[in-house]
Amino acid sequence: MNMTDYNELNAQLKSLIEGVPYRIANLANASALLWQGMEGLNWAGFYLREGDGLVLGPFQGKPACIRIPLSRGVCGAAARTLQTQRVEDVHAFPGHIACDCASNSEIVVPILSGGETVAVLDLDSPLFGRFTPEDQAGLEAFARVLEEAWGDMR
Ligand code: SME
Repeated sequence: MNMTDYNELNAQLKSLIEGVPYRIANLANASALLWQGMEGLNWAGFYLREGDGLVLGPFQGKPACIRIPLSRGVCGAAARTLQTQRVEDVHAFPGHIACDCASNSEIVVPILSGGETVAVLDLDSPLFGRFTPEDQAGLEAFARVLEEAWGDMR
């Protein structure tokens, strides 16, 4: 499997969202960029904060669960703790929500605005241990690009 070039991916994201004030459009393009640019994925997309839970946002992959309480799942843990969750084996993660039974590993990066989680970036893989610390750093930088533009999007 080829390593992702996050410098290139993140530069592409910046130029795609530059001057675009629409959140859904930008997150849709961001999920398409990840889907096209990374290998070994079966799901790539976003959940958006709605009160004390998360609601499905733009994504690529199979249809997924619509609502996730902050108290549940890898996504809920990332949103609640404001920390990236990099899970080598989802079957060993307490409360993991299986949307696609092909998923074996997962990474969820919170997207913050005003010190709160406003969304999470979620990637799933059929491979165990798909996401390395280098992927985590690259995806956190990807999320920072979205955070910087968040307030200018509606
Ligand atoms: N597995 C996630 C649910 C979302 S799907 O992976 C798209 C979780 O446990 O939060």
